[in-house]
Amino acid sequence: MTRPIIGILGGGQLGMMLSNAAKKIGIKTHIFCPEENCPASRVSDFFTKEDYNNKEAIEIFSEKVDYITYEFENIPIQTIDFIKNKKKVRPGKKSLLLTQDRLTEKKFLNDLSIPIAPYKSIETANDIKDAHREFNECIIKTRTLGYDGKGQESISNQRNYEKIFESINLKSIIEKKIPFEFEVSVIIARDIENNLCHYPIGKNVHKNHILKDTFSPIQLTEIQINKLISYSEKIITELNHIGILAVEFFVTEDNILVNEIAPRVHNSGHWTIDACDVSQFEQHILCVAGERVKDPILKNNAHMINLIGDEINNWAGKSNSENIKIHLYNKEEIKEGRKMGHVTYLFNKEHLFE
Ligand SMILES: Nc1ncnc2c1ncn2[C@@H]1O[C@H](COP(=O)(O)OP(=O)(O)O)[C@@H](O)[C@H]1O
Ligand SMILES: [Mg+2]
Repeated sequence: MTRPIIGILGGGQLGMMLSNAAKKIGIKTHIFCPEENCPASRVSDFFTKEDYNNKEAIEIFSEKVDYITYEFENIPIQTIDFIKNKKKVRPGKKSLLLTQDRLTEKKFLNDLSIPIAPYKSIETANDIKDAHREFNECIIKTRTLGYDGKGQESISNQRNYEKIFESINLKSIIEKKIPFEFEVSVIIARDIENNLCHYPIGKNVHKNHILKDTFSPIQLTEIQINKLISYSEKIITELNHIGILAVEFFVTEDNILVNEIAPRVHNSGHWTIDACDVSQFEQHILCVAGERVKDPILKNNAHMINLIGDEINNWAGKSNSENIKIHLYNKEEIKEGRKMGHVTYLFNKEHLFE
């Protein structure tokens, strides 16, 4: 059987880990990315360095590959429209359109009766004032292009709403700051025949709005697990999504709220590379290639730590041991707040995370 070639839009660390996983199962990858020395270009079989708005380049790329996937959700939507055979794009355009705009995403979740943080769309300064009165502590988030807490601002004390409104330069929403106990994410996969599988649920700790640690599996009640899985299954099925999807949640004393959806492999699933028989990356490649999902088997409990900015310097040149697995993304430049690599600590399955 000839294996397909999978085209990947985006060449960051997620593209790199997707390419590595594909290689492991004999599938070739072709990265399309505007940056010359992106992490994924060093490990993929083929590489096109072009802009996402270059229609001709996208058309040529799409003819060279059997399926196309993406490693980030902020690809211009017209790039997908340049692809001649739309059937090739997995997950489809629907998942991308939905998650590119927080407002559309929140309306979708509301329509599915899935609990989320109370929010308002900001059209005037008064909307900020009303939300502040109603919700108390709030967070303003841009509707588009936010990641790693970029495009977010907290509102706690009494403020000049006109001034805040004037400082907003992208369409935004304002939402209640949730006094959560902790955050978790569900990494779920769906294949072309609607078979689903998910990974053990991990707890996520953020610092400065950036993911720092994931502990998996985490101790949860049966009621919590049922809600987390049923919401995630509802979302992935409703979107007709093929491949991995990640759902971020806030767990409060008495409720489970969806924070946001990522239509792709996710940082909080990186631990699966070392601790499961099938990683989230391999699972995604299998689904995109039209194969069946594989229920992952947990080999170890895991604690993943992101290496952010110059934290990478503590790990350069170190080698893996049986229980410590180092992943460096080989990015050209160290920048504050930039994800440069991650380390996964493996534990036996009796080791419980609170
Ligand atoms: N409404 C909220 N209440 C409490 N914390 C929040 C809220 N929104 C975001 N945060 C914190 O900021 C982090 C990043 O925000 P998120 O909306 O997930 O944006 P990003 O796209 O940057 O990941 C969250 O994981 C959480 O820790
Ligand atoms: Mg997030």
